[in-house]
Amino acid sequence: MTIDTTGIDTTAREPAVQSVAGGTGTAPQDDVLVRIDKLWTIFGQGAEAFTVHQDLDLDVRRGEILTLVGGSGTGKTVLLRHILGLTRPSRGSVTINGVAAADLPSAGASARMGMLFQHGALFSAFNVIDNIAFPLREQDSLPDAVVRDAAMVKLQMVGLQPEHALRMPSDLSGGMIKRVALARALIMDPPLLLLDEPTAGLDPRGSDEFCELLLDMHRELGLTVVMVTHDLDTLYALSTRVAVLAEKRVIVVGTPDEVVHFKHPFIEQFFLGERGLRALEPLQAPAAATAAQAPHPARSC
Ligand SMILES: Nc1ncnc2c1ncn2[C@@H]1O[C@H](COP(=O)(O)OP(=O)(O)OP(=O)(O)O)[C@@H](O)[C@H]1O
Ligand SMILES: [Mg+2]
Repeated sequence: MTIDTTGIDTTAREPAVQSVAGGTGTAPQDDVLVRIDKLWTIFGQGAEAFTVHQDLDLDVRRGEILTLVGGSGTGKTVLLRHILGLTRPSRGSVTINGVAAADLPSAGASARMGMLFQHGALFSAFNVIDNIAFPLREQDSLPDAVVRDAAMVKLQMVGLQPEHALRMPSDLSGGMIKRVALARALIMDPPLLLLDEPTAGLDPRGSDEFCELLLDMHRELGLTVVMVTHDLDTLYALSTRVAVLAEKRVIVVGTPDEVVHFKHPFIEQFFLGERGLRALEPLQAPAAATAAQAPHPARSC
């Protein structure tokens, strides 16, 4: 074992990420929007030091919907925070279009990427339209009427009605709150959207509708999406590729079908347990066979 001056074990490890059949793990440089290279995340110091990521590699390709799965506490949300530039790598790098995420100026961040936080609430003291307009208003560069018009466009884009504009967050359903949060994330038309458990807390119907909306947004706006989800229906409905976090790194990345067949205890428990098999069933039905050729596994959410 080799320990460097930071106290990190630098012993050569196995390839940090395995891609499954079809070379799904590597892509030409131009194709990559987010590159995570040999990332270490260590919280605390000395005896308190706690390693979340260790030599983690992952590329996010332009235009894809990449889903991160992993057990609770494996560092999925922290990984999104790295992409946002809110957490600095202890070692290694996270780059967006070749620039270190943590070095990008916070001004204009909403134009680079939108984020739907895991426990993300709206500002409870602001009504719907002011919540949506918030990132644009913060720029302080546009007349208020223009900001309001832009927010109204986004309100309707996420399937809400003009009469919802003046409602307070406490008067909205869970599904409507998610839609407002999505409109706020997209107000500056960012090319990259990060979603942390986007359908958590929604009932099956609300979850299906929100998946449909995300698919529409992805298609219409040409977004690149990085999503964390525990929900297999959401995963199969949306994912172009899936990356699995375990053992402090990405152990495998590939299409949902490829990843399901990768041998690892977490994957077997997550995808092939009772809940996982139930979610997989419609994909394996003969009628789904043709649809499975589409860019997405193409099952309705
Ligand atoms: N700022 C921080 N300081 C110290 N520890 C942190 C910090 N942020 C996260 N952690 C720890 O890092 C680990 C990974 O956290 P993270 O929130 O990324 O997990 P997760 O994979 O998103 O889990 P879940 O599925 O439950 O949301 C956890 O043990 C968490 O307590
Ligand atoms: Mg999390």
